[in-house]
Amino acid sequence: MRSNYCGEINDSFVGQSVELCGWVHRRRDHGGVIFLDLRDREGIAQIVFDPDQKESFAAAEEVRSEFVIRVTGLIRMRPEGTINLDMKTGKVEVLGQQLDILNRAETPPFPLDEHGSVGEDVRLRYRYIDLRRSEMSDRLRFRSKVSNTVRNFLDSHGFLDIETPLLTKATPEGARDYLVPSRTHQSRFFALPQSPQLFKQVLMAAGMDRYYQIAKCFRDEDLRADRQPEFTQIDIEASFCDENEIMEVTENLITDVFKKHLDIDLGIFPRMSWSEAMSRFGSDKPDLRIDLEFVEVADLMRGVDFKVFSVPANDEDSRVAALRVPGGVTLSRKAIDDYTEFVGKFGAKGLAWIKVNDSQTGISGLQSPIIKFMPEEVTKDLMKRLAVKTDDIVFFAADKEAIVNDSLGALRVKVAEDLGLVGDFWAPLWVVDFPMFETASNGSLTSLHHPFTAPACNVDELKKNPSGSLSRAYDMVLNGTELGGGSIRINKPAMQTAVFDVLGIEVREAREKFGFLLEALSFGCPPHGGIAFGLDRLIMLMTGTNSIRDVIAFPKTQSAACPLTEAPGEVSKAQLNELNIRLREQVKTS
Ligand code: AMO
Ligand code: AMP
Repeated sequence: MRSNYCGEINDSFVGQSVELCGWVHRRRDHGGVIFLDLRDREGIAQIVFDPDQKESFAAAEEVRSEFVIRVTGLIRMRPEGTINLDMKTGKVEVLGQQLDILNRAETPPFPLDEHGSVGEDVRLRYRYIDLRRSEMSDRLRFRSKVSNTVRNFLDSHGFLDIETPLLTKATPEGARDYLVPSRTHQSRFFALPQSPQLFKQVLMAAGMDRYYQIAKCFRDEDLRADRQPEFTQIDIEASFCDENEIMEVTENLITDVFKKHLDIDLGIFPRMSWSEAMSRFGSDKPDLRIDLEFVEVADLMRGVDFKVFSVPANDEDSRVAALRVPGGVTLSRKAIDDYTEFVGKFGAKGLAWIKVNDSQTGISGLQSPIIKFMPEEVTKDLMKRLAVKTDDIVFFAADKEAIVNDSLGALRVKVAEDLGLVGDFWAPLWVVDFPMFETASNGSLTSLHHPFTAPACNVDELKKNPSGSLSRAYDMVLNGTELGGGSIRINKPAMQTAVFDVLGIEVREAREKFGFLLEALSFGCPPHGGIAFGLDRLIMLMTGTNSIRDVIAFPKTQSAACPLTEAPGEVSKAQLNELNIRLREQVKTS
């Protein structure tokens, strides 16, 4: 039907006849000559129709935006002065000789180049039109190429691509499950996998040695720009290896992808312990492009009259931390108020600050609502510890450790973005030495990763001091985004049972939920470990966009719905009857 893609033609084609197919991107009438920009996946070609070619000219007059057409024509150089070097095909044009309308189109709901003025819900509702934009199709093409590189890399390193079920049992990754009712086993439900975690471990017990899968995962959780209810993992597992071997091979995988597709050398990834990351940046996924760090000041604040600081300074679960921001002295009162509101979202009760108008004149060079509460000596020590310079602003957070970390950690990123303090380079790292457990608000322990992660200690040590135990987990972080996470797994039933025990999962419950895994561990399961990367997040970072929805062909909205298909949809009574399901009440949809 066609000889070339529109985006392919260039001056080496001059004098040749081509057949192009695509969509009418734009139609311009220039004093009797009609110009059509014809678009396909690969780009845009300019077609010219002269009135002396009566039939094709008449057809060109008839077409409108987004009509699907086929054009036969002759390639020639564009006249001097009309060459457009911004376009791949901008040196040439096609003299149209024949035009067939393959399909007509209604007026599109938004012009392709004005997508910015319509809401994302409209773009998602007419996603097939949104995806015609080169910005979108280029990202999907990029994603396809990266997936291919990932497959080739893993294949050449001996990993087998093995599919695991989507209709399965719950996998605990911390989110709610999407459930699917079973017709053949009434009152029973499948869960869609939150990850292939359990199956990949069973595959190791089965002797598959090295597994990978580009796997769909499902998590019913609160959505954000980097989270979708349905997303894709590059899921990896290997036997007879330790954490260093897994980190090495997967670091090479990511490095290879960046080299091949962006020509960027990520270098060797530094490793940082979880406790160092929390202490310096208040985050387990620090953005190392930002050269701002927390400074601990609790010891200086223990005796001050200012209770906001002295109470947390004397409480071992709390923290008083400062963040020095060069150039921040220019921040207006309103900007500081906005930041105070911002940290409030993370539970901070306020945001104390000191502006350094002049670092040479001691306390008189400072401006702050809080220094009046502090003895001069303390202020001086503080300024010394923070090594303040003229034009700095210093922010303070004093509260329970988690609140300080979350609020000041988020402020660090926000202020850096606002003041242009984010470095223009790639900053990957591994975060290692995570605690095994974190303490929930009710005091119970939950897994920081998942319950199959091996601790770095033996069973007795774990039982004695669970909250102080570290795990053999590792996260790969890039520019402040968690790209992937994994661990060496528990491969012995006794340790797995001990971890369930710490988590308060009773023997019966453990058998019901994960009996098959415990059994697999007891029939000769090799030492093994793995990792999973978020493919959507990887592509989001590599294509420089800030939402994973931009790199997914058919993403869900913030409320986990699909405007295109209108899923989730209602089902018929007959279907519900077959599934033995009765709806409790008619839920009103607004
Ligand atoms: P984890 O839960 O850390 O680990 O997930 C691994 C990676 O998947 C991506 N990711 C997501 N991407 C988009 N939307 C989401 N809702 C979402 N949730 C997670 C992130 C994350 O780093 N089974 C373990 C891996 C293992 O231990 O091997 C797991 O799923 O990039
Ligand atoms: P107040 O005496 O409550 O008006 O607080 C004085 C200053 O301390 C204000 O700038 C508050 O924003 C700030 N502040 C209050 N609570 C905290 C806190 N927990 N951490 C940091 N600063 C705070």
